[in-house]
Amino acid sequence: MKPKLGFLSLMCQLLFLQGYNCTWKCPSKNPQCPNHNEMQQDGSGAYVYSGGSTSWEDWWTYDGISGPDFWGLLNLEWSLCSKGRRQSPVNIDPASLLYDPSLRPIHVDKIRVSGVISNTGHGVIFRASASVPGEILNISGGPLSYRYRFSEIHLHFARSDDKGSEHLIAGSHFPAELQIYGYNSDLYQNITEAMSLQKNQGLVGISILLQTGDLSNPELRIITSQLHKIIHRGQEAPLKFLSLRDLMPDTSYYMTYEGSTTMPGCYETVTWIIMNKPIYVTKQQLFALRRLMQGDEKNPKAPLADNFRPTLDLNQRSIRTNIDFRRKPGSECPSMTRKMHYQANVFQSGP
Ligand SMILES: *[C@@H]1O[C@H](CO)[C@@H](O)[C@H](O)[C@H]1NC(C)=O
Ligand SMILES: *[C@@H]1O[C@H](CO)[C@@H](O)[C@H](O)[C@H]1NC(C)=O
Ligand SMILES: *[C@@H]1O[C@H](CO)[C@@H](O)[C@H](O)[C@H]1NC(C)=O
Repeated sequence: MKPKLGFLSLMCQLLFLQGYNCTWKCPSKNPQCPNHNEMQQDGSGAYVYSGGSTSWEDWWTYDGISGPDFWGLLNLEWSLCSKGRRQSPVNIDPASLLYDPSLRPIHVDKIRVSGVISNTGHGVIFRASASVPGEILNISGGPLSYRYRFSEIHLHFARSDDKGSEHLIAGSHFPAELQIYGYNSDLYQNITEAMSLQKNQGLVGISILLQTGDLSNPELRIITSQLHKIIHRGQEAPLKFLSLRDLMPDTSYYMTYEGSTTMPGCYETVTWIIMNKPIYVTKQQLFALRRLMQGDEKNPKAPLADNFRPTLDLNQRSIRTNIDFRRKPGSECPSMTRKMHYQANVFQSGP
């Protein structure tokens, strides 16, 4: 346990100034608080954390005083969560997309991968086994200049169907979002190194939005079939032979922008690719997700559901797409013919 005493009291005072009632928010019955009985009132309306097994790294949530608005205050290494101006997720506004003819199709290796799916207390994460030979899956193409090695899948979802996804399309939520993360294996050793501060082009995040339907994507079913084994925090289950390519929706169209990880530390090193079609998830699968809990068996706390970060400003970033909106349906010709272009001037080299 690193000595981070006093941090919570600062937060509480801060919140108090903003009109929160700390007495209510922090100590007693709030399931968001780390071990409640370890929180003590120091007499001034602030609380000190008196040690214990809960680490501050684990103590972030999706609401209240440890929620997204405060991630940047919980840990100095997460300051980008509050200060960053190239953060994710964002709302994709179709009216402001830029068509970029240089964007290629995305390449995802066809092989199947195995690994472990776990309940982290913040979400559901599938991690590929570190280095099973023959199971190293690479992602390249699209807007990517490097080769990225598949590392993790994250799932974000809500307690009701009207929200759950992190990225929004034209202001609308989807009931869930599946994110495929890969790290730049041309430049970095592993995902930890690729993610940490000051690293460039560390990660790719492929966002697949989930829409409710009667028939699930078959690969998604492989994932959700294990959920009953990971109801509580810390539980994990092996997951075998998952095809990422078949998990992807049937489209080569996507939107892309430069952003961040959507969990602390909000590292601004992610090239996001949002696929232009959803895949389908059934009501039963959503129900299985909503049964997952934030805590362990003894103290299950609140449901995991609602583990999505609200959208952040684009701050002058552009969102590019390989969809040529102006192409007429059925037409082979791109509409954006170049009638005007630059040309290099011929300079005489001086005498
Ligand atoms: C804060 O909330 C508690 C419990 O609801 C209440 O007893 C207390 O009076 C409130 N304090 C303030 C300053 O509003
Ligand atoms: C992915 O790239 C690694 C080298 O970084 C290579 O060893 C591996 O065979 C590639 N995977 C596939 C499926 O081609
Ligand atoms: C990741 O790579 C860094 C730098 O090469 C190394 O120090 C670290 O131990 C690696 N971490 C893991 C989990 O392999």
